[in-house]
Amino acid sequence: MEKSELLYEGKGKKLFKIAGDDTQLIAEFKDDLTAFNAQKKSQEEGKGVLNNEISTIIFNEVMKHGIETHFIEKLNDRDMLVKKVDIIPIEVVVRNVATGSLSKRLGIEDGKILPFTLVEFYYKEDALNDPIINDDHAIIMELVDDRAELDVLRELGKKVNDILLPYFDSINLRLIDFKLEFGKTADGKIILADEISPDSCRFWDKDTNEKLDKDRFRQDMGGVKVAYETVRDRILGK
Ligand code: TMP
Ligand code: ASP
Repeated sequence: MEKSELLYEGKGKKLFKIAGDDTQLIAEFKDDLTAFNAQKKSQEEGKGVLNNEISTIIFNEVMKHGIETHFIEKLNDRDMLVKKVDIIPIEVVVRNVATGSLSKRLGIEDGKILPFTLVEFYYKEDALNDPIINDDHAIIMELVDDRAELDVLRELGKKVNDILLPYFDSINLRLIDFKLEFGKTADGKIILADEISPDSCRFWDKDTNEKLDKDRFRQDMGGVKVAYETVRDRILGK
């Protein structure tokens, strides 16, 4: 399995075509760390390897519970073989506890447990700073074909949460919130894509509420790599 042309470079991954294969891509996990729409940038050696490892295990976990994803196999330390999909330009954010932009935007107390799982949509467009949108915006901008597709995104977000909340709880991590991206296969099916890692999730230690995710970078707390390693080690049962 050889990388050919670079198809797309995002903040956390590069996507490569595979010669003679129109249905699969190779995702390479980078060591770049960015926040606030890449206004803040750094590098953390080995972060890509950790995110590839963590994402692989989490994709397998949700697939075991019947969620379809773009994941095919982990090829090596940094590379993952995935199904080629058309990414829907909506970031689906699922929240169990108020923090981050939710607390900032609405003044909800940081750390407040939400009375129910909140699903939000953000328009994936760097030039606009990924603004929050509602269903009507998504339809007007033709980000999806119809409202039923938005319901599918919401339901899949909640289903992934229902699988991952007890999973992380069992390894002493609170799943505070996370961001998912979905894509459409050639036959129009909506499947989970992108990654599930400490770059895209917030994890707090169940006993101490210590932050074990990219907030350590966003908030200049240091110890980013150790935090990602802690998540990896707990997942591996170390
Ligand atoms: P937020 O509180 O900053 O809106 O973030 C909500 C969740 O989404 C959090 O787990 C971090 C994740 N996230 C991303 O993966 N990418 C992003 O660009 C942003 C803004 C958040
Ligand atoms: N993913 C965004 C960036 O890389 C924002 C974030 O995760 O805080 O800039």
